[in-house]
Amino acid sequence: MRVVHTIAGMKEARHRLRGSVGFVPTMGYLHEGHLELARRSRDENRYTVVSIFVNPTQFGPKEDFAKYPRDTERDLAMLKKEQVNIVFMPSAEEMYPPRYSTWVDLEKVTERLEGTIRPGHFRGVATVVAKLFNIVEPTRAYFGQKDAQQLVVIKKMVADLNMNLEVIAVPTVREPDGLAMSSRNVYLNPQEREAALILSKSLSLARKLWSKGERNADIIRREMTSLIETEPLGTIDYVSVADAETLEELAKIDRPAVVSLAVKIGKTRLIDNIVMAR
Ligand code: PAF
Repeated sequence: MRVVHTIAGMKEARHRLRGSVGFVPTMGYLHEGHLELARRSRDENRYTVVSIFVNPTQFGPKEDFAKYPRDTERDLAMLKKEQVNIVFMPSAEEMYPPRYSTWVDLEKVTERLEGTIRPGHFRGVATVVAKLFNIVEPTRAYFGQKDAQQLVVIKKMVADLNMNLEVIAVPTVREPDGLAMSSRNVYLNPQEREAALILSKSLSLARKLWSKGERNADIIRREMTSLIETEPLGTIDYVSVADAETLEELAKIDRPAVVSLAVKIGKTRLIDNIVMAR
C-alpha cells in the first residue's frame, strides 16, 4: 500500500495504473462502514484508492472541524488489511493553496434538509469531491447511503458536469443494535449512546407503517416525531419524507422516497435514513 501526500504524486501514481480504479473518499477515523466501501471497491475494480482528508471547507465556523476525530496510524493499518493500493492524504494547503477561489455550487438539492441547517456544507463537499475526482480519475466512486443527501448531491454533480465515472451507493452499516456507524458516534457518552437508538427506532417505525400500507407522508413524519420526542436527550433538527431523487418533501409516498432525520443527542448531531421504494 502506497501513501501519497501530494497532488502531483497522486496523479503520477494514477497514470501508472492500468485497469479500473475504485475510489473511496473519506475524512478518516475509519469504521466498518468505510471498510465496506473499500471492500466493494476492491471486489469491483482492479485497484482501490482511498483518500483521507478532513475537508475544512465543508464545516461551518461553529462546527466540529478542530475536534473531528483523527487517527491516521489506525486508519492506515485498517486500509492495509483491506488491501487498498493507494491512500491519498493531502494537507489542507495542498488542496486549498493561497488564493484558492473555485467552488462547485449545486442549486435546489443542496437547499433542503442538511443544507438549511449547515449552509455552505454541500458547496465544500461538492468542491472537494470534484477536486478529488479530477486528481484520482476513478472508474467508480463509492459513497455510503448513510449520507443520503450527499449521495444525491454527488450523483447530480457527476451528471450535470458530465464527469466520467460511476457513483456507487453502498448500504448503511449498522451496529448490532441498529445505530448507523459514524465517526461522530465517538462523541457519545454511554447514556447518549443508548439515547441515539431513537434514530434507528423511528426509522423502523416508518418502515413498519409503510409496510402496512401507510402512504401519507405527514402521518409517517408525525409518528416518527412523536416517538423521538419521548427521548429526553434528543432534539429534532428535521424529520423528512422526500422524493429520493430531488429531495422534495412528499405529501403522498407514490414514488421512491427517502425517510431521513437529523437529531441532536446531547451536543452530538446524528443523521440517518432509509429508502422506501414502491
Ligand atoms: O462523507 C465524507 O466523509 C465527506 O463528506 C467526503 C465525501 C469524504 C468529502 O469530504
